Amino acid sequence: MKRIMSGMRPTGRLHLGHYFGALTNWLEFQEKYESYFSIVDWHALTTKYQTSQEIKNNIWEIALDWLSVGIDPDKSTLYVQSAIPEIAQLHLLLSMITPQNWVEREPTLKDLVKMLAADEQEAKEKATYGLLGYPVLMTSDILAFRGELVPVGKDQESHLEFARDVARRFNSLYGVSYFPEPQPKFTTTPLLKGLDGQKMGKSASNDIKIADSEEETVKRIRQAITDRTRIAKTDPGHTDLCEVPWPLYLVFAQHIKEQVKLECESAQIGCVDCKARLAGIINEFFRPIRERRKELAKNPDRVRKLLEHGNIKAKMVAQQTLAAVQEIMGLVVWS
Ligand code: TRP
Repeated sequence: MKRIMSGMRPTGRLHLGHYFGALTNWLEFQEKYESYFSIVDWHALTTKYQTSQEIKNNIWEIALDWLSVGIDPDKSTLYVQSAIPEIAQLHLLLSMITPQNWVEREPTLKDLVKMLAADEQEAKEKATYGLLGYPVLMTSDILAFRGELVPVGKDQESHLEFARDVARRFNSLYGVSYFPEPQPKFTTTPLLKGLDGQKMGKSASNDIKIADSEEETVKRIRQAITDRTRIAKTDPGHTDLCEVPWPLYLVFAQHIKEQVKLECESAQIGCVDCKARLAGIINEFFRPIRERRKELAKNPDRVRKLLEHGNIKAKMVAQQTLAAVQEIMGLVVWS
C-alpha cells in the first residue's frame, strides 16, 4: 500500500475551502492508502510566533474538524508534529545537505513575507531563520514517513518540488535509494471564492467555517457577492457572472442547478431568496458533521486520547526513519 502524508497548520477553524479542497480527498485516500495526517504546529509557528499562545487551541479545533468530517483514526494516523521530535532532528540533518540558495529561491516564501508585512522593516522581521527553513521542515514531515503521495493544493507545488530535490540529493550523496521522491496529488475541485469574491481564507474572515452555526451560515451567505450587474430584483441575473452563490450551488446542489439557473436568468427569483435557499442546502449538508463536532467537543479526553494514540504510531515510524538516516549518513546511532 502506498503511503500518503499531508498536513495542515493549526491557525484556525477549517472552512468550506478546506473541506472541498482537501478533506474530501483525504476521506477517499484513507480508504486506499496508508495515511499520515499531521497538525503541523511548528509550521504555524514560522509565521505566528508573536501569537503563539493561540496555536494550542487551534490544534484542538483542527482535530475536531478532521474527526467530525470523518477522518478516521482507525484508518489514518492523526498526529501533532511537535509530538514527534524526530521530525525536527530530520530537519536538522536535511538542512546540512540543502544548499542555501534552494531555500532562498522558494517563491512561496517571498510572497508570504510580502503578504504578512506592511513595510520593508516588518518584512525583515517576519523573514525569520525558521521561516526560511519552511520547505526543509515540510520535506522532513513528508520524508520522516517516506511519504510517496502528498495531497495538497496547487499553491504547494514548489514545496513538493523542493522535497523531491532534497530526497534525490540525499539518495545520490549517500548512494542509496532510501527516500522515495514524493509526488503531489492535487485536488480537482476548483478553488472556492470567499464571500467577498476574493480567495477564501481563514484570516480574511470571508469564509464559512465547517463549525459555524446554522444562523451564522445564513447570515454569512446573505453577505455573499452575487452578480454585480444585477441591480433590481426584476433584472434577469447571470449565473456566469454570479461570483459566490452559483459556484457554491455547483458544489452543493448539482441536482437543482438547471432549475436555479432558469429561475435566476428569468428573474423569477431574487438574489436574497436564492442565497437563503443556498444557506439552507449548506446547513443541511453540514448538519450531521456539525452535530458530531458538538458531541466530540464535549469529550476533550477522548479527542486527546485519539491524538496521543496517533502520536505514538507516528513516532514509531519516524524513529525508524531517523535511525536509518543516521546510519546512512555514517553518524552514531545511540540506543
Ligand atoms: N505547507 C502546507 C500548507 O501550508 C502545510 C504542510 C506542512 C504540509 N507540512 C506538510 C502539507 C507536509 C503536506 C505535507 O498548506
